[in-house]
Amino acid sequence: MNQPELLAAADKAFIKNYRQQPIVLQRGAGCEVWDTAGTRYLDMTAGIAVCGLGHCHPTFTQRVSEQLGTLVHVSNLYFNEQQILAAKAITDRSFADRVFFCNSGAEANEGALKLARRYQAIVNNAPERTTIISTHGSFHGRSVATVSITGQPKYREGFGPLFGPIEFVTYGDLAAAAKLIETKTICAMILEPIQAEGGIVVAPPGYLAGLRELCDRTGTILIFDEVQTGMGRTGTWFGHEHDQVTPDVMTLAKGLGGGIPIGAVAASEKAAAGLAAQAGGAVPHASTFGGNPLACAAANAVFDIIEREGLLAKVASAGTYLGEKLEGLVRQFPGHVTEARGRGLLRGVAVSGAPAQVVARGRELGMLLSIAGDKVVRFAPPYIVSNAQIDEGIAILARVLSEGVGK
Ligand SMILES: Cc1ncc(COP(=O)(O)O)c(C=O)c1O
Repeated sequence: MNQPELLAAADKAFIKNYRQQPIVLQRGAGCEVWDTAGTRYLDMTAGIAVCGLGHCHPTFTQRVSEQLGTLVHVSNLYFNEQQILAAKAITDRSFADRVFFCNSGAEANEGALKLARRYQAIVNNAPERTTIISTHGSFHGRSVATVSITGQPKYREGFGPLFGPIEFVTYGDLAAAAKLIETKTICAMILEPIQAEGGIVVAPPGYLAGLRELCDRTGTILIFDEVQTGMGRTGTWFGHEHDQVTPDVMTLAKGLGGGIPIGAVAASEKAAAGLAAQAGGAVPHASTFGGNPLACAAANAVFDIIEREGLLAKVASAGTYLGEKLEGLVRQFPGHVTEARGRGLLRGVAVSGAPAQVVARGRELGMLLSIAGDKVVRFAPPYIVSNAQIDEGIAILARVLSEGVGK
């Protein structure tokens, strides 16, 4: 089928929950993808902050292909080699002592919520501590529980009754969190080190450290949702490293598998007791596909390649370069581009009008971008992006803006 025929078939075949751009992507290499009409796009989205290694990195492709021909799935009735190595890769590089594997970011956050609830109920013997604190503007996933803790009402509409009790506080407001955390029924607080889907909002200095201190003092579980900020996206393995603060639990997905679906709950020894089976008791949490050899081989390849190719340093330097260019757009288009935000290769510019129009026009001109929140055009390119590719992307965006789009 040609591209118009494929688009017509898509129009008939899918539940219409998404609003896809009208192109059908077919292949990719590095920071470029091509659609079925042969048009090439510069990919500044990387599957929404997923493909850190770019598309079809040769070593990644070889390692995943080898695993495909070795062992794909066995369930958690047994261990498999790749999942042990992947869990060790996470614990060797982070505060975490123990890992649970699942398949997506929402599932990882579901696991973290279950861990926190059961920790308070069974390990801490405080079953009244059930309330989850989350932040306005956050995004934690689309399952019923994770949409309930997502601080953007538009994602919750029509899905009630929701999971609760939940309390939302303003992101960055330590005093507001303190007031709640010191009440007796708080189970856990969950937040992103950078609110990504909420518009690329970086935690203000001292905020994460202040929350750490409050949670330590009150026995509250501190969960960092690193689904988007983790795995090198901000120039360190995990986003919280910039603040020199560690959580009790961290959730991962997106970049962890380089494009192969995998999620993880990573926890300190103490917090991990929340999901541990008790002698003679039922398995408290599980996933059929979680920790399967194929996804874990992908994660192991991601860890190895990021290290072998020095990609954390590359993210930091490319991120600084991109950040400077985005600041340049703020100066070039005053009142139209209102702010440049972000860290590493998770960045964006706020526009005065509709960012979706900027994304659509950018795609017409050969670049893939995504929106974050109501105002921000997001750049989350592969870690291997070159300065020349950043220049190309900025030139396209400048052209879109000079046409008055997104004003
Ligand atoms: C911070 C954060 N948490 C959770 C999720 C949900 O991840 P998934 O779509 O893999 O369920 C996302 C997705 O954008 C995210 O950015």
